[in-house]
Amino acid sequence: MSIIHVVALGGSLLRPEEAADRTMWMGQLRQLMVHLEGNGRRIGLVVGGGLPAREGILLVKETVSDRKKLDEIGIAGTRLNATVLQQVLLDIGCDVAPTVPHTIEEARVLLERHHIVVMGGTVPGHTTDTVAVKLAAAVHARHCIIATNVPHVYTKDPRHHDDAEALTEITLEELGAIVGVGTPLEPGASTVVDPIAVEVAMEAGLDLAVLDGRELRRLDDALEGNLFDGTIIKA
Ligand code: UTP
Repeated sequence: MSIIHVVALGGSLLRPEEAADRTMWMGQLRQLMVHLEGNGRRIGLVVGGGLPAREGILLVKETVSDRKKLDEIGIAGTRLNATVLQQVLLDIGCDVAPTVPHTIEEARVLLERHHIVVMGGTVPGHTTDTVAVKLAAAVHARHCIIATNVPHVYTKDPRHHDDAEALTEITLEELGAIVGVGTPLEPGASTVVDPIAVEVAMEAGLDLAVLDGRELRRLDDALEGNLFDGTIIKA
């Protein structure tokens, strides 16, 4: 049986400020996927909504009060980004599932038939981190990699605390204490890892890896099971 990887790709990775960075990143991601597919690996890519999700939610936040409806807008943003990556990979002839699945089960079945499946969100109430962790558990992946726009998990939010320290190896319990397990995120809100994803990983006994997805070398290292620059989170 081939090795299956699941990677949550933060939506912000698709939209760096500089268009040149964006083009380079897409090219490197294509190379990485071609390489993995060539080695017989199967990869589930779960893409975040980034700018389209945030903009859509912001547009109607004062008008629409039902949180589920805002979440549906966020999910549409994630599916847009997933379609972008799906087409980018199809364009160089990768064996990518022709549909963007709506459920974990659909994704699991598609991963039996294709080397690569790209998906976004599924149902209201969580973020794509949770989708990725659920998919990783469903396909018995070794771990779930969360590729985001920060290099590590920190002791506290580095955007607001100068004394935040980068962590290289922690437990799910420790990550849960940092992100606040038990407190669901507001639609469109963000923490380094969605607290619900941490809870699901705890239930599944699944290790996580957090790394800077802007540096695809780090993702490559983590996928190969090598030492990588980032944070390992042990179940
Ligand atoms: P994201 O997964 O993009 O959240 O979902 P994020 O943490 O902001 O990730 P980045 O920044 O893209 O990496 C965006 C929003 O879409 C809804 C939620 O409202 C979430 O905040 N959503 C997403 C769901 O309700 N269910 C899903 O399965 C996925």
